[in-house]
Amino acid sequence: MKIASPLARTLIATAVAGLCALPAVAQEKIKVGFMLPYTGTFAALGVAIENGFKQYVDEQGGKLGGKAIEYVKVDDESDPSKAADNANKLVKRDNVDVMVGTVHSGVAMAMAKVAKDNNTLLIVPNAGADAITGPFCASNIFRSSFSNWQPGYAMGKVAADRKIKTAVTLTWKYAAGDESVKGFKEGFEAGGGKVLKELNLPFPNVEFQALLTEVAALKPDAIYVFFAGGGAVKFVKDWAAAGLKDKIQLVGAGFLTDGTLEAQGAAAEGLLTTLHYADDLTHAKDKAFRLQYAKTYKLQPDVYAVQGYDAAQMLGAGLAAVKGDVKNRDGLVKGIAAAKIDSPRGPFTLSKAHNPVQDIYLRKVVGKNNKNEGVAVKGLADPARGCKAS
Ligand code: BEZ
Repeated sequence: MKIASPLARTLIATAVAGLCALPAVAQEKIKVGFMLPYTGTFAALGVAIENGFKQYVDEQGGKLGGKAIEYVKVDDESDPSKAADNANKLVKRDNVDVMVGTVHSGVAMAMAKVAKDNNTLLIVPNAGADAITGPFCASNIFRSSFSNWQPGYAMGKVAADRKIKTAVTLTWKYAAGDESVKGFKEGFEAGGGKVLKELNLPFPNVEFQALLTEVAALKPDAIYVFFAGGGAVKFVKDWAAAGLKDKIQLVGAGFLTDGTLEAQGAAAEGLLTTLHYADDLTHAKDKAFRLQYAKTYKLQPDVYAVQGYDAAQMLGAGLAAVKGDVKNRDGLVKGIAAAKIDSPRGPFTLSKAHNPVQDIYLRKVVGKNNKNEGVAVKGLADPARGCKAS
């Protein structure tokens, strides 16, 4: 459009100059983008994470660092092929200040790449992909959960300490399963155990029969598995139905029995797992958290709810450090990195790679509880192999 009149040109120029001279208006709200599974085998895990996150924000009166929190969300379906598009929607269409997600390691890796490319803050509230706090670590990426190596390594150590000599492993074939097994093998073989065979099936398949026949034929002392959500329910039931429960010791990363006991019933009784949470911890923080969660959601909390709650605590610590100025990225990141999180799991700090340094509990299923049998490894830090952060 051509603006002919000199008067009109002067008026427009004055208005534009006036606008530029206005002081920057502080952002009133912080936009959190949840990218979580709300359908599929991990659907319940995604819901628990969102519940836990919102519980903490609600406890703070709906604000973190003095700023109101607003949410947008996308169902990632635990589908890595849709992950980059979904994350880009949150960053470019919705303009979120922080992404919170996700459960599945393959999807989380794509989110981490989008976060890095766009310098968007990312807090991972579950997915354990070792690379996220390993070779792919970055100043704007944090995790409130665990690395896949952590519970796997702890279970390997426990199994070796209990004089188990041979084991077979079984998992879904993707990063989380592979890395969980790698951690188990490292702890188990360092203690003198031997892994006879590593079995797997594609994610999220649950046709276990042929594999169970193979495990029975191998006659190991124990089987170590990584399954979670709906797949974990099916595996534990199939294992018991095949008559293997009293013949071969079944152990696993704690996801096998967390948030699943109601559905697994008697088939889960007595199972041993390792995780950074248990159902009968004694600290006051956990008691208050569990009471409030049950009251709000009419559900018992699980490890996923705790990780969501702590993701919000971490964001809260960062925003408090910059008095809500989410654009002060350096201050925000420093505030999160230095935080001591008063978690329902017990207090934890973050490693240089931004992964929790935390106690890993040995748990035994008793009725509907993952009963704490004591700390399997105290203050376990992921080795963060390949992370160049200083
Ligand atoms: C993962 O993909 O990293 C994962 C999924 C469910 C439970 C634990 C880890």
